[in-house]
Parts: sequence; structure tokens; C-alpha cells
Amino acid sequence: MLLKISDLNTFYEESHILQGISLEIDGGEIVSLLGRNGVGKTTTLKSIIGLLSPRSGDIIFKGQNICGMPSFEIANLGVAYVPEDRRIFPRLTVRENLLIGMKPWQKKQENGWTVEKIYKYFPALQERDGQKGAYLSGGEQQMLTIARGLMGNPEVMLLDEPTEGLAPKIVETVEQIIRDIHNHGVAILLVEQNMRVALRLASRVYVMSKGNIVFQGTGQELKENPEIRQKYLEV
Ligand SMILES: Nc1ncnc2c1ncn2[C@@H]1O[C@H](COP(=O)(O)OP(=O)(O)O)[C@@H](O)[C@H]1O
Ligand SMILES: [Mg+2]
Repeated sequence: MLLKISDLNTFYEESHILQGISLEIDGGEIVSLLGRNGVGKTTTLKSIIGLLSPRSGDIIFKGQNICGMPSFEIANLGVAYVPEDRRIFPRLTVRENLLIGMKPWQKKQENGWTVEKIYKYFPALQERDGQKGAYLSGGEQQMLTIARGLMGNPEVMLLDEPTEGLAPKIVETVEQIIRDIHNHGVAILLVEQNMRVALRLASRVYVMSKGNIVFQGTGQELKENPEIRQKYLEV
């Protein structure tokens, strides 16, 4: 198992948000974490990447407990986090934004990502190479944040609602990018509110409600379970 989370409890002050979350991701797998607004999906990702300190629980990444480690160390070990608010640098060019995702102190990896390689997968970014981040569309900003995450050569990427607010055509592009990354052998934990997107991409899904996992199974099993879908997913 690449990443195994057991009985994670995370608080905001006195609010007990994550109430014993357990989930796991195998190497190269796409797993989706689904659930309505406010159930704790982002809190789960922030707990994994070390932006929040869980009060208890284990997060085992490649055999090492990373729970409570500083987030830059977790990132160095091979976990990339793409936040939902697409934090690109508006005054830097597309290329400069990508270079920020590199970790120059790490040994150069054979087959590692470079700007040129990124541009093969993201031709829309290549066209914008010298332009400032501020002038990108929402879809291009999303591509850029994902691409920047790849520049650190992660083994697993945590993607927080990457298709949110994008036009259907752009959603398709982002889905294809996620497939390409997966084909590259990178595992993905995909947080989504859009069940259709998750079912098209993920081999397994977890459904959250109020800080708990209330369902886990294959996409097919979720499709065949209208009760769970109505109660926890569809409006
Ligand atoms: N900074 C914060 N301080 C206090 N409560 C927060 C904070 N961020 C999120 N919450 C609360 O934690 C719960 C889970 O939020 P979040 O993980 O963002 O949900 P989701 O990503 O599933 O929409 C919500 O009830 C939200 O109000
Ligand atoms: Mg969220």
C-alpha cells in the first residue's frame, strides 16, 4: 500500500471535524473521495499534506508515518497537493510558475518531469509559456497548478476539486490530464463533489459525511447503490 490512513482525527479548535477517517491508496491507483460541501474532504487532504495537525491517527506513506510532519518534508517524500483555490503566482510567467514546482536540492531523477516534458502533455500551457499567470483562464490556471505539482515528481497527488467551476469542455481536458498522470504511474486521491467525474476516473471511491467515511467500494458498487447516492451525494 502506497498511502494508508488509519483512524484520523482532526480538529479546528474545539470542533471535531475528522472523526476517525481511514482510507488507502495503492501505487498508481486513482481513488476518489466524494461528499457534499462541508463534510471534511479538504480537511482530509490538508491533514495528509501536513497543513493541519491531526490530533490522532496514522498516515503511513511508503512505510513511514508522516502524520504531523511539516508539509515541505511530506512534499519532499513524494506527495503533491493541488489546493482547490489554484494558487498560481499572477506576476510570474507560466514557465516561472512551473519552475517553482521543482525541488532543485533533490537529485535529478531519470524520467523526471521537466518544463519541456510538461509542455508535451499540456500544449495549452506551452502556448502561454511567457505569459503572466494573471492572464490565464480558469481552466489554464487549473492545468498550471496540476502541472506545477508534477514538477516535484510525486508518487501520489492530492487533487482538491480540480474540475470545480470549469466549463464542460475544460472538464474533459482536465479529466484527460488526470488519466495521463495516472498512465505515468502516479497515484491520485481525487476529491470531487461531481460524482460523474469521479466515476469516470476512479477505480475505487470513498464517500464522506460529517467527518466519517460512510461508504467505500468500486465505482460500479456506488452506481448500484442508489440509497447511498441519494443520502450523501445527489441533491
Ligand atoms: N479554518 C477553519 N476553521 C474552523 N472550521 C473550519 C475551517 N475550515 C473548515 N472548517 C469546517 O470544517 C468542516 C469541513 O470543511 P472542509 O474540509 O472544507 O469540507 P469540504 O472540503 O468537504 O467541503 C466544515 O464544517 C467547515 O465549516
Ligand atoms: Mg473542500
